Amino acid sequence: MDLNPPPCDRYVAAMLLSAAGDALGYRNQRWEYCTSGPQIHSELQELGGLANITASLPDWPVSDDTVLHLATAESLATGKSEEELYHEVARRYVAGMSDMEGRKPGPTSILGTSQLRPGEPGGFRIPFNPSGTGCGAAMRSMCIGLRFPRPSELPLLVAVSVESGMMTHNHPTGYLGSLASALFTSLSVQGVPLELWGSRLLETLPLAQEYISGTESDVTSHLETWDYFRESWERYLRERGLLQGSSPALFPSPYRPAERDTEYTKWSLDGWAGRSGHDAPIIAYDALLGAGGSWEELCGRAMFHGGDSDSTGVIAGCCWGALHGLSGVPEGNYMKLEYRERLEAAADALYRLAWKQH
Ligand SMILES: *[C@@H]1O[C@H](CO)[C@@H](O)[C@H](O)[C@H]1NC(C)=O
Ligand SMILES: [Mg+2]
Repeated sequence: MDLNPPPCDRYVAAMLLSAAGDALGYRNQRWEYCTSGPQIHSELQELGGLANITASLPDWPVSDDTVLHLATAESLATGKSEEELYHEVARRYVAGMSDMEGRKPGPTSILGTSQLRPGEPGGFRIPFNPSGTGCGAAMRSMCIGLRFPRPSELPLLVAVSVESGMMTHNHPTGYLGSLASALFTSLSVQGVPLELWGSRLLETLPLAQEYISGTESDVTSHLETWDYFRESWERYLRERGLLQGSSPALFPSPYRPAERDTEYTKWSLDGWAGRSGHDAPIIAYDALLGAGGSWEELCGRAMFHGGDSDSTGVIAGCCWGALHGLSGVPEGNYMKLEYRERLEAAADALYRLAWKQH
């Protein structure tokens, strides 16, 4: 069974709305670091609501998430593969770090890129990092699912998402987040029902473990820290009644911004919702499940909350765009985005590589 090619504009929407989700959730640092969803929602009202926002410079820059997501996408767009690709990705992550003025990159990305030696033998690998649990790998890997959307390409998706994730977040909680974001984008393109995504992720984890066991010298550190990601996802899916992928998802009632802040925080590693590799994709997924075809509802849940809202927004926006395109999205949210041309060019290139060579 093979997939029919999706319309190319889904790829463009995925890339644009990922950046829109980043810029909206970030609001030039103000909302990324605001710890209250209700306060963000009330400030949004004062701005005239989502439809009144033109996400553009200088007030709505993209943050580190989009700079590094573009680095991943533009590396894939070169058409390189395997080690040649990994050196390319490492090179572009290092280069991306000189475009971080005012974009608030995470400490783990700063450290990881300082350890990379692109072009040197094995220079795309860094040592295991016991605290490399952040969402910095999960926020930049969605485009890997656009490049490798087919079920038959799953081993490639696993390899590239894990390798690129490990380049800065060499800890399972970090790089499995990269796998989750890439997988979810591929499932968006495949049209797999949302309710099944969580169980698909759990089914894919053994492939990632095999990959690590086959390529890493220090396997023990990975295996010892492996279970937190899986157990966190199992706990979340059990609460939503989705552990077996049965539908529909069960949500708390009521589930307004205040209740969502409480729920989101409950899943976090250290009290900062969406900051880690496991819970940035959890919050994005929870928002996708609750939003259906409504961009405004998606933003209310994934971009405007009291946690790491640009990183949950970048993941949710990408999947939503791949699922729904741009219909119903206020033009101002994406038309004048910083790096819009690069995002569109990357989308076109990924589409061509994914669909025109088969
Ligand atoms: C929409 O945004 C503009 C600034 O971009 C502002 O002047 C205007 O008051 C807003 N509209 C509403 C209804 O709040
Ligand atoms: Mg950011």
